[in-house]
Amino acid sequence: MRMIEIISRKRDGYEHTEEELDFLVRGITEGRIPDYQLAAWCMAVYFQGMTPREARNLAVKMAASGEQIDLSSIPGVKIDKHSTGGVGDKTSLVVAPLVAAAGVPVCKMSGRGLGHTGGTIDKLESIPGYRTELPIAEFFQQVRTVGLGITGQSGNLVPADKQLYALRDVTGTVESIPLIATSIMSKKLASGADGFVLDVKVGNGAFMKSQEEAERLAELMVAIGKSAGRQTVAVLSSMEQPLGRAVGNALEVKEAIATLAGDGPADLKELSLVLGAQMLILAGAAPDEETARRKLEIVLSSGQALHYFEKWIKAQGGDPSIIDHPERLPAAAVVRKVLSFGGGYVSGWETEALGLTAMRLGAGRERKTDPVDHGVGLIIEKKIGDRVVAGEVIAQVHARSEVEAARAAEEIRTALKLSAEPPARAPLIFGYIV
Ligand code: URA
Repeated sequence: MRMIEIISRKRDGYEHTEEELDFLVRGITEGRIPDYQLAAWCMAVYFQGMTPREARNLAVKMAASGEQIDLSSIPGVKIDKHSTGGVGDKTSLVVAPLVAAAGVPVCKMSGRGLGHTGGTIDKLESIPGYRTELPIAEFFQQVRTVGLGITGQSGNLVPADKQLYALRDVTGTVESIPLIATSIMSKKLASGADGFVLDVKVGNGAFMKSQEEAERLAELMVAIGKSAGRQTVAVLSSMEQPLGRAVGNALEVKEAIATLAGDGPADLKELSLVLGAQMLILAGAAPDEETARRKLEIVLSSGQALHYFEKWIKAQGGDPSIIDHPERLPAAAVVRKVLSFGGGYVSGWETEALGLTAMRLGAGRERKTDPVDHGVGLIIEKKIGDRVVAGEVIAQVHARSEVEAARAAEEIRTALKLSAEPPARAPLIFGYIV
């Protein structure tokens, strides 16, 4: 078999055979396929797509290209939660202790942020002492004794995806639904959970800008998960504005703690309950959504979920005193209010632009190797539908310098969309794919 035949078959719209996919994944993993041929194949997939069967076969073979985690030594049904990436999305920090407090073990491997989206591991690393690179045996022992843990992805998980993603990033082929679905699901399959709750973000701060595209991605990911023998559900949720108010690592940890203490933003609490309920149902810990939500609301209002957060942070080497003393988290040198020039109602935010502003402040990275400043970021004070008077505070900037704060303030004002009339209600959840 030759790579040129594989490229030509995809260019002409054929479905790849298992043998072709084996050749491709082995070739990528062993570095035998030149970048120019792999790039041509990615572009052919971008235009021709893949059938669900083909995408499932590719994801399974990619998952097998490196280490595959075996979670069977941890008792119970293990359900993972995955977000396709957004701005201010700190849901994992709330959902993990919430679900664990309701009796379902959470054993999660997370990634770092890139571009305008944040990553759970960067957020957790803002907690002094928190260890994100635990040896696997120690990590499993923690989940067995404490009920939860979140660690960084093992270096050898899906090496084929590492090669492929780096190439997609520079060839205009990131935005291919089958390539995104196989990239995400291969890592999920390799990380060993029995089931997945996928939070597929929709809107101007997400990969998928329209509901139709998000549905197509969600359907394909659910089909891959199920046909690989894992229970899989997707929730389509809005990324038309940052989730909650905080964007930036330590600021987001603080907001997650406030949410666990019953004092967080409504949208973050709601999404955490929606995703957590699906996790409980897949784990067999609740028969339906109503029962699952009730269980979660009880552990949230009783303080049990916050207690699990404390146990988890402590077990993983972090300083649990940040719960009562958030001032012990990293903080920015300069904090400035951003005032609105105009008045009206907030009709929208350019969410990706806000994510990029936070990234430029130092909260994220443009390239994988860039360092992150855990203290900087934004607090969005006005959400869609809120009234704004000229001169009122719309946001806060947490920056390293006055110059950076001034630039960010200007960008935030540009990202705000105001209208004279109240906008239509902005839904948080667009639907479920089961
Ligand atoms: N996240 C991934 O892991 N892969 C993609 O292709 C897109 C988002």
